[in-house]
Amino acid sequence: MSFFENKERRLILAIETSCDETSVAVVEDEVKILSNIVASQIKSHRRFGGIVPEIASRHHVEEIIICIDEALEKAGVLPEELGGVAVTYGPGLVGALLIGLSAAKAFAWANHLPLIPVNHMAGHIYAARSVKELRFPLLALLVSGGHTELVYMKEEADYKIIGESRDDAAGEAYDKVGRVIGLSYPSGKEIDEMAHSGHDIFHFPRAMLKEGNFDFSFSGLKSAFVNTVHNAEQRGEELNSFNLAASFQASVVEVLVNKTICCAKNWPVKMIVVAGGVAANRGLRESLKKSMECELPEIELVIPLFDLCGDNAAMIGLAGFVEARKGNFAELDLNADPSLSFSDMKSE
Ligand code: KG4
Ligand code: ZN
Repeated sequence: MSFFENKERRLILAIETSCDETSVAVVEDEVKILSNIVASQIKSHRRFGGIVPEIASRHHVEEIIICIDEALEKAGVLPEELGGVAVTYGPGLVGALLIGLSAAKAFAWANHLPLIPVNHMAGHIYAARSVKELRFPLLALLVSGGHTELVYMKEEADYKIIGESRDDAAGEAYDKVGRVIGLSYPSGKEIDEMAHSGHDIFHFPRAMLKEGNFDFSFSGLKSAFVNTVHNAEQRGEELNSFNLAASFQASVVEVLVNKTICCAKNWPVKMIVVAGGVAANRGLRESLKKSMECELPEIELVIPLFDLCGDNAAMIGLAGFVEARKGNFAELDLNADPSLSFSDMKSE
């Protein structure tokens, strides 16, 4: 089945259900986002302090058809006008992925459309295409709830992991320390806001800064934070949460910015892309921008708009166009791959 054959417009329907957001989008001509419906389930998971996979799957089942209808209606597009269906097939929660995948397959089959498989993390990177045309080679700092990675892209859809977290992901660390100071899940955004009203008085460790590689580790920082809070509790002392947030954020941001700058100096990159939920962090955005202006003025920095940093289907549509151009279509036996990695994706 060839892509956009006999179609007047170049339109893709995109579906994302890898975690706790049911999202469907319609994207036109590579970069035009006509609709991007995101049904968040966060309220249902909050009382458990994290994502409950079974609850996530149930919500996806309830929401997916509604989101598909809404995305088409908002875009003013009929199924027969579409040229393909892009869908996240990994990484993520297997039950959650399967709901989106089944819906995408059914929709593609019923409307005689090709199925375009998309890696969720590639979607995060290609969210940056909504801001600017990507220039290669580029370096992507991927920071989400499940991943912290530095990815080198020599060209379109070619991914090489240069460094990654050896333990917790950056977003995961934010969520875990937030819980210790009584914030609700997910706490990254709130810690970011609190950090702007506090000071780095605790000087938590900056892990692996001098290691000479581009890997990360956040578990030592998390333990230092938790020990500081618990020791104070045992002494009957109450610590200032704003200073705790500022100190935690200063450590995360310094490590992320330092490693990214250092990596960009070692690889011939024209552009740095920051993507994933933690890319919404104001401290990270400001600090990286400032450091790059001083140290790497010739390299462009691109960060998706706030709405496209977290999980959403528009980014899957943007990456879907790239996969489709490469002729990367899937059969209807495409399975979910919960631990899909860039190293599993062969570049041409
Ligand atoms: O990419 P994402 O929406 O989902 C995954 O694929 O994991 O990332 C969610 C993560 C959560 O851990 C959340 O706390 C974090 O992104 N996050 C932030 C901010 N906004 C969301 N972390 C730090 N600062 C923020 N402003
Ligand atoms: Zn994500």
